[in-house]
Amino acid sequence: MIEVNNLRKVYNTGAAAVEALKGITLSIKQGEFVAIMGPSGSGKSTLMNVLGLLDTPTAGSYRLDNEEVSGLSKDRLAVLRNKKLGFVFQAFNLIPGLTAVKNVELPMLYAGLKPDERRRKAVAALERVGLGERLNHRPNELSGGQNQRVAIARAIVNNPAVIMADEPTGALDTRTGEEIMAIFQQLHREGATIVLVTHEPEIARHAQRILRFKDGLLISDETVENPISVAGKEVVG
Ligand SMILES: Nc1ncnc2c1ncn2[C@@H]1O[C@H](COP(=O)(O)OP(=O)(O)OP(=O)(O)O)[C@@H](O)[C@H]1O
Ligand SMILES: [Mg+2]
Repeated sequence: MIEVNNLRKVYNTGAAAVEALKGITLSIKQGEFVAIMGPSGSGKSTLMNVLGLLDTPTAGSYRLDNEEVSGLSKDRLAVLRNKKLGFVFQAFNLIPGLTAVKNVELPMLYAGLKPDERRRKAVAALERVGLGERLNHRPNELSGGQNQRVAIARAIVNNPAVIMADEPTGALDTRTGEEIMAIFQQLHREGATIVLVTHEPEIARHAQRILRFKDGLLISDETVENPISVAGKEVVG
């Protein structure tokens, strides 16, 4: 699903150039659930931005779903991003003035779907994350965990090839973080490919595989022997 070869990213700001990624080679298969860890400044978000088509690498190749994407135009990248990727962020990034269902409809608005189909799919996505009873609540009328579930519904509504999450539990307490991980695990069981950045070892151990970064390099790639499993049924379905 994701194949990266000798990927480099250099930021040129002012006098000093920062080499944030120093030649990363990795692949992530369809249906994998991967956590990315590493100290602050090790290049995790830089990698997520490149994998998420929000930024372009300085050198190296990136194949997403069997298509070479380095070198594509900004417009083409935006189209691919909308079609293939779903994003979840630490700060939810919802539109405050819009209800849950309207927030989830947004990616489909850009994709040009008809209003009734948008509504139907948004409701279905919110039901999948256990928010079928909160369709018309606005972000300030929902808890942090509920807002993150709206953000997950928005991320999955276009059926993305990959769900990318940068510190999705970073703003939540432990219990709510677990509920969010239950949803990711449920989506993973249903076949989703998930890449998740976290600082918390306990959160990372919900994934099947942990990639560790340090100073712009991938320093380890390990299989999680017994991933922490959270029953999803109290939250989902
Ligand atoms: N837009 C930018 N311009 C210049 N330098 C940048 C930019 N973004 C990141 N960097 C530098 O690249 C390096 C990697 O940053 P990155 O944000 O990828 O780290 P990170 O692993 O996500 O850290 P954190 O855990 O703190 O989020 C850092 O040295 C950072 O200062
Ligand atoms: Mg970061």
